[in-house]
Amino acid sequence: MKATDRLDDMRRRAALGGGEERIQQQHAKGKLTARERVELLVDEGSFVEIDAFVVARPSELVRDEERVMGDGVITGFGRIDGRLVYVFSQDFTVFGGSLAEAHAGKICKVMDLAVRNGAPIIGLNDSGGARIQEGVVSLGGYADIFLRNVMASGVVPQISAILGPCAGGAVYSPAITDFVAMVRDTSYMFVTGPNVVKTVTHEDVTFEELGGADVHARRSGVAHFEADDEVACLALIRRLISYLPSNNLDAPPTVPTDDPIDRADRELDSLVPDAATKPYDMLDVLRRVVDDGEFLQVHEGWAQNIICAFARLDGKSIGVVAQQPTVLAGVLDIDASTKAARFVRFCDAFNIPLATFVDVPGFLPGTAQEHGGIIRNGAKLLYAYAEATVPKLTVITRKAYGGAYDVMSSKHIRGDYNVAWPSAEIAVMGPEGAVNILYRDELEKAKDPDTRRKQLVAQYVERFANPYVAASRGYLDDIIEPSQTRQRLINALRALAGKRDTNPKRKHGNIPL
Ligand code: HXC
Repeated sequence: MKATDRLDDMRRRAALGGGEERIQQQHAKGKLTARERVELLVDEGSFVEIDAFVVARPSELVRDEERVMGDGVITGFGRIDGRLVYVFSQDFTVFGGSLAEAHAGKICKVMDLAVRNGAPIIGLNDSGGARIQEGVVSLGGYADIFLRNVMASGVVPQISAILGPCAGGAVYSPAITDFVAMVRDTSYMFVTGPNVVKTVTHEDVTFEELGGADVHARRSGVAHFEADDEVACLALIRRLISYLPSNNLDAPPTVPTDDPIDRADRELDSLVPDAATKPYDMLDVLRRVVDDGEFLQVHEGWAQNIICAFARLDGKSIGVVAQQPTVLAGVLDIDASTKAARFVRFCDAFNIPLATFVDVPGFLPGTAQEHGGIIRNGAKLLYAYAEATVPKLTVITRKAYGGAYDVMSSKHIRGDYNVAWPSAEIAVMGPEGAVNILYRDELEKAKDPDTRRKQLVAQYVERFANPYVAASRGYLDDIIEPSQTRQRLINALRALAGKRDTNPKRKHGNIPL
């Protein structure tokens, strides 16, 4: 056989993974193969595979012919919109994509390459977990990956797609990465599966109910994105990458836009209702401000009282954090705080300026929140904003009450450009609560307490619940017409393009986890 013929034959066999039959089984489950996924993820024809000929070490429990080339994972590099990314894609047709020594070694190699070359690492997970035949060596392989996930954190973006099973300790690699995307009906993540759950807690639960995409994207917050199918999931990752820099020393890519920088949207001037308790859709505000009205929400289905989204202004990526008045009046609770804290820290690590839109009545009261640790969790958001050194722009659209005012990228924690709309109310607490405390005695004695309360509330609103007191102290840089928001933010971003700010030198801070 000619040398090149042998190479062709080897490549053909490597490309087949676990063989035609298993490929068909994979398709029958509504899943793509590892290779098909990579082809969809990266620019056409750009994928360069490495380690295709790697096989598992010989072992008593695995016959020689079972040691398939590639060892159940495809690794290499390719391009997304022309930009370098490293990829691993687990091949369920080989030992159920289970992770063994050689398999783990290949993943570690691409992770090391990604960090050394300053490019994102994208993992496509579809695996039965630790390869049982290799025992503790597989556990070691996982730990080698976990360590690399931690070392790469904040250095290159790490993205995980869950496209099949991901169970036991295996979940902790995706959990450390920056973003987790799941597919409805075909992917699941859990620490212990339904059988163990049944034994331990006597609960009857299906795979989907325990750890499907809906659960993690809406209830647990483990997944940042959910998609209807794999094609949509991979397209979503491509879109996500378009907002991110390749590494922590680079700026995100600029995407030119025809959207005029001075576009004034008059609708914004009347968008906030006069009645302070009436909601409006903050997504509508964002659409009217950012480039082409386009953004990508992170954790769209979880903790919907806060919005976290990537968008662009002036062609440059920004991270938007915004209260959503239509959900729980935009209150800050445990989930909203942790959701936004993680997003803020991601943006800060990767040089993505933050634009914060504030309409917050405060932190959510109640035993559930207090006992669940709203103090500890709310502190995460405060910590994240305070330590962030990227440009920070803040627009108070309506309420900014109490501690939540301080937390939401206020001037006091190094907000760079803080403005309010004329509808803003900035005070220690809302008018009703304040009047009840300040005038309790008087209201008890009043002949007509309701009328008196109304008068006092009106006085309070006039005196405190407006943006002018904060502006008089310089806590706000300006009060702006809502229609001018886009132009103002872009001007500020341009002025902050060269921002340099640092935190004290230390091993690391101690964020209240
Ligand atoms: C070796 C495995 C495997 C594994 C699956 N396979 N998981 N081989 N080690 N962990 C093999 C199966 O034997 C089968 O081979 C093929 O992959 C396809 O699996 P099926 O069971 O036919 O597929 P399906 O019905 O889709 O079920 C998928 C599954 C199931 C739910 C993942 O295979 C399963 O329960 N596997 C075991 C999962 C597990 O307990 N893993 C260890 C968890 S502990 P054949 O040749 O028959 O087709 C763990 C710890 C990590 O992972 C710790 C990190 C610190």
